Amino acid sequence: MKVGVSGASGHLGRAVVSELLRRPGGHEVVAITRTPETVSGPAQGRFGDYNRPESLAEAYAGIDRLLIITTVDPEPGKRGAQNVAAIDAAAKAGVKHIVFMSAAGTRQEEEPALGASYWRGEQHLIATAPAWTILRMNFYAEAFVQQVQASLDRGVLTGLAENRAAFVARSDVAAAAAGILIGDGHAGAIYNATGPERLSGAERAALIAEITGRPLAFLAITESNCAPD
Ligand SMILES: NC(=O)c1ccc[n+]([C@@H]2O[C@H](COP(=O)([O-])OP(=O)(O)OC[C@H]3O[C@@H](n4cnc5c(N)ncnc54)[C@H](OP(=O)(O)O)[C@@H]3O)[C@@H](O)[C@H]2O)c1
Repeated sequence: MKVGVSGASGHLGRAVVSELLRRPGGHEVVAITRTPETVSGPAQGRFGDYNRPESLAEAYAGIDRLLIITTVDPEPGKRGAQNVAAIDAAAKAGVKHIVFMSAAGTRQEEEPALGASYWRGEQHLIATAPAWTILRMNFYAEAFVQQVQASLDRGVLTGLAENRAAFVARSDVAAAAAGILIGDGHAGAIYNATGPERLSGAERAALIAEITGRPLAFLAITESNCAPD
């Protein structure tokens, strides 16, 4: 069986490829990226650019199961179009099972809402793929660590309103994706990759203060306190 990872040279993509290579099962691993020269064996590197759908036909040829990792392109509408192009190319290339990397809390939303591209991708996947699985990730714990590092000196951790988050390690998301790709019984499932606990902003700040021994308060950003004077 040939298993493909599209968006393979990013943080998550690299982690999924190495999980797949580590696991037994006799599967071949194809890493699809705009920089295939960075892929080292035994994974096979192939060129694929979501913005050039014609490149995806060749990139996805012969692949049995494919993971589509979306980009971080901030331009409204762009990421949704990329998701649709990748799903269409995979279905056309004869990929039997498409796994789509989505985000926790995805629901019907319109651009420019951040979640709109995930909603569009999920809906298109369900309508188009011969078999599909959706893996919705929560916030990366690694991204939270970066935010903490940037906040400790000011003593203030910010967040949008009082949103709760169940941070998850990127490596755990990668392990889940690899398990879905080479396992059976996952068709038609929507999974949430989350951490064990939903923490409010105040709880996050208190936890970090306790771990580091440094004071850290939480400030919820609202329209009124972030608006220019
Ligand atoms: N949960 C969170 O807290 C959180 C935070 C940030 C991002 N995310 C999401 O997590 C996913 C991946 O995260 P990451 O940390 O791995 O991001 P990353 O390291 O920035 O990787 C982004 C990937 O997007 C690919 N890409 C960008 N433009 C492309 C294009 N035109 N065609 C094909 N591939 C393209 C890159 O592929 P190449 O291999 O071609 O370079 C790269 O592999 C994304 O869906 C992102 O939205 C989640």
